[in-house]
Amino acid sequence: MQVVHNIADLQAVLAGASLRAFVPTMGNLHQGHLDLIQMARQQVDARAKSGGKTVASIFVNRLQFAPHEDFDAYPRTLENDCALLEANGCDVVFAPAEKDLYPEPQVFKVHPPTEVADILEGEFRPGFFVGVSTVVHKLFNIVQPNLAVFGKKDYQQLMVIRRMVTQMALPIDILGGETRRAADGLALSSRNGYLSESERLEAVQLSWALKTLAAAAREGSANGHLDVPALEAAAMQSLKERGWQPDYLTVRLQHDLSPINGPCQQPMVVLGAAKLGKTRLIDNLEV
Ligand code: PAF
Repeated sequence: MQVVHNIADLQAVLAGASLRAFVPTMGNLHQGHLDLIQMARQQVDARAKSGGKTVASIFVNRLQFAPHEDFDAYPRTLENDCALLEANGCDVVFAPAEKDLYPEPQVFKVHPPTEVADILEGEFRPGFFVGVSTVVHKLFNIVQPNLAVFGKKDYQQLMVIRRMVTQMALPIDILGGETRRAADGLALSSRNGYLSESERLEAVQLSWALKTLAAAAREGSANGHLDVPALEAAAMQSLKERGWQPDYLTVRLQHDLSPINGPCQQPMVVLGAAKLGKTRLIDNLEV
């Protein structure tokens, strides 16, 4: 595996690659990321006879953090990440310094449309999807992948990237990897590392609240009585009573994350974001 830190070196290492499968990350990797790397590896092995490369990027992207958020605290664990990537079939790691990716202030940005970027995560993290779309578009230009893999854990992010790729006619297949969970059901996330021991025990309640909400949405759609606002309010209240500060727990259409007003026969997804102590967690379940 080769580890490169600037664009020129990356392009030299990738020259002549018959297929490029890309997994963008911010590092501090866990099994959820490694599942995505393995998916990328399988795609390379299946699609390219030889000469295909699996590429991961590790870059904590300042553009997607608000000033009060955890950009400085975000764990940087490059050496360990590289060992994990190598053991999971990655060929090339691109770990640029900030000055390599943003040699000058990034004033040209990708602004996704309000209806996908200003709801849910975008409502509570204004500018987040501008930062994500801008860095992902830039990384796509640099890596020139044939396919890229993103986790469904960041469900809205995956949808925004898919829309960007379609609208910009980028010749990249976007694949979504399933959320990896700990034995108790907590979705793996680099931010789980911020939790204290007692918060870690409590953290699984977010996925349980979503499971209850998903079951109620399924049942209500089947029997023709689905009061979504009442179910959402009950889910929020159940977490509040346990000391959480929920931003949203909601039932949406899978394809565009638009709200649901009654019984629904289309694929749904329940999504939630809530703070436990100082740590903000997100999760979702397809219904
Ligand atoms: O999901 C992430 O880790 C980040 O949002 C991404 C896609 C690497 C962009 O910085």
